[in-house]
Amino acid sequence: MTTKITAAELAVQREYMDKVAGINAQRECPPIAHVHSFGCQQNVSDGEKIKGMLAQMGYGFSESPEGADLVLYNTCAVRENAEDRVFGNVGALKKAKKQNPDMLIGVCGCMVQQEHITAKMRRSYPNVDIIFGTHVLHTMPQIIYEALTTRKRQISIPDCDGVIAEGLPLKRESRLKASIPIMYGCNNFCTYCIVPYVRGRERSREPEDILRECRELIECGCKELLLLGQNVNSYGKNIGTSFSELLRRINDIDGEFRISYMTSHPKDATRELVDTIASCEKVTRHFHLPVQSGSNRILKLMNRGYTREHYLELIDYVKGKLPDVALTSDIIVGFPGENYEDFRETISLIEQVRYDSLFTFIYSPRNGTKAAQMPDPVSAEEKGKWFRELLDVQQNIGCSSYKDYVGKTLRVLCEGEGRTDPSLLTGKSRQNIIVDFDGSKELIGSFADVEITEALAWALRGKIK
Ligand code: SAH
Ligand code: SF4
Ligand code: F3S
Repeated sequence: MTTKITAAELAVQREYMDKVAGINAQRECPPIAHVHSFGCQQNVSDGEKIKGMLAQMGYGFSESPEGADLVLYNTCAVRENAEDRVFGNVGALKKAKKQNPDMLIGVCGCMVQQEHITAKMRRSYPNVDIIFGTHVLHTMPQIIYEALTTRKRQISIPDCDGVIAEGLPLKRESRLKASIPIMYGCNNFCTYCIVPYVRGRERSREPEDILRECRELIECGCKELLLLGQNVNSYGKNIGTSFSELLRRINDIDGEFRISYMTSHPKDATRELVDTIASCEKVTRHFHLPVQSGSNRILKLMNRGYTREHYLELIDYVKGKLPDVALTSDIIVGFPGENYEDFRETISLIEQVRYDSLFTFIYSPRNGTKAAQMPDPVSAEEKGKWFRELLDVQQNIGCSSYKDYVGKTLRVLCEGEGRTDPSLLTGKSRQNIIVDFDGSKELIGSFADVEITEALAWALRGKIK
């Protein structure tokens, strides 16, 4: 069941923010926090809440942990390498903590929502002062207050799945583009995935709360709203609304801006949704539709809830309705029991769909998931070979699909100076493709029509129309 955190509970946390701000105000100079969020956009969005609360508590921010008074890692558990990086980073702070024993080190987010990880942190990482899970993010002010005043380790990983906290302060990463979580958690239990275990059950925010946030952002000059959920297509199921309805209502807000979304699950992406996207002029022409595998046998073992044929029909429908769409996907190579024939089915699907780009991962066993119990006879070396084969195939497809844009005019949201060449401007097209072009700096923060003159490996080049 979903419960909104009450105003009274939030008021308690506000009091803690004031108390910490009071402590920090007595210092000669304001304390500095280094906050790093790993993982997906949802986690980055949580990071914005963390920073928002810390700013109210009087913290300034630094890009590096060196010299920081508080280092907080907002972690991801989706693959082993994400977890290894956090252990490495925390271990590397040993020396800094010795030099500055007052420094607080915290670890929060998905990774510590797993018991075996918290046990390892308790046991082997005595320099970590603060550990809190994904469900108690809104109690961070209290946790920090206790850590500062008692100097005792604070560990808060209660099993209280299902809460939604509205009205927390936010420090957004960008003025132009805003992430807006529309739902939390996941109910799908794909057999390889840890997310449902660390993020809890699916719960949707009230549409009115989302719309208010969107309107405020647009009024403040925001030009792109990124709607976030692990499976946005099932938004609103238990509260009498739907993702299509939400898109239509956001699309009706006045002004020129874009609406993008992450992530669509192919089993819940209906034709009605595709029709809605086609009819909403502000919704991006970028469909990220993770397929994971092209083999029906593997899709079944993954518990994805669709077949290769269903997926390809959906793609055909999308291409028919949205001729200018860019398609991207996630692929897992080396799922337990996958053989070379299954892998070739994935390659043939990729060749058929012709994605603009792909996010590719080698399967990583996750503690407590069903797939981690399945026999996995293929060696890491063999999986590595398949992975490289996949990258080669996609590189050729990606390059040729970008060439199709040459000569076309794309509406580009101009985000800033070019990354490699600051004399250029850079932005993103409605297909979410990077476009570099000549133009005056005054265009930054607005939309422009750009004629594409050249296709590069990861971007397009163009000139203002
Ligand atoms: N909710 C989204 C994705 C969440 S995780 C969806 O359903 O598409 C992002 C991606 O990480 C997944 O799409 C998948 O490709 C990959 N992933 C998840 N668990 C993984 C694992 N155990 N090993 C390798 N890749 C994994
Ligand atoms: Fe993980 Fe599947 Fe949920 Fe995506 S839909 S978060 S892959 S369980
Ligand atoms: Fe990672 Fe948690 Fe996102 S596990 S992918 S940060 S929901």
